[in-house]
Amino acid sequence: MAGPDAARHLVLVGLMATGKSTVGRLLAEALDRPLLDSDDQVEAMTGRSVREIWQTDGEQAFRRLETAALTAALADETPSVVAGAGGVVLAQENRVLLAADHVEVVWLRAAPSTLIARVAAAGDGHRPLLDDDPAGMLERMEAARRKLYESVADRIVDVDDRTPDAVAAAILEATP
Ligand code: S3P
Repeated sequence: MAGPDAARHLVLVGLMATGKSTVGRLLAEALDRPLLDSDDQVEAMTGRSVREIWQTDGEQAFRRLETAALTAALADETPSVVAGAGGVVLAQENRVLLAADHVEVVWLRAAPSTLIARVAAAGDGHRPLLDDDPAGMLERMEAARRKLYESVADRIVDVDDRTPDAVAAAILEATP
């Protein structure tokens, strides 16, 4: 299998704390492409933090902004690396965008136990869903979203025992 397609946007999807932003940055540097990070895009578009939007306007308002950010990212003619936010697969509209020919999707797959350890270490600034019972929430999200990530993925890369550098290398070298 070849590495990333030079003509297509490369989109990383997966649950919170799978390393999408960090791996995305490494890939953008290696491929000399722009990096578009979904949560950062939403914050730049609105001038507000993810948490503030979520708490003031609610999840649905945030999801609409997430769709706008994905649409804008994939409309750019220059192939970029897109670090999708964890919930980007929830909307059917987004899954249609991700299925387009000019988009290559890599699912960074992880066991909930891996992510529980990571979010405990990272804090949860832009992750209001993890404010109460983060372990239970990650378990439930993994069960609810697994099929959705799988349905949009051109490739699946397991991240459990890998550093971000190793994940990026696996994507660049197209190893499983
Ligand atoms: C969310 C993931 C977060 C952020 C928001 C909701 C989700 O992004 O968009 O807290 O529903 O999975 P990251 O995946 O970048 O943490």
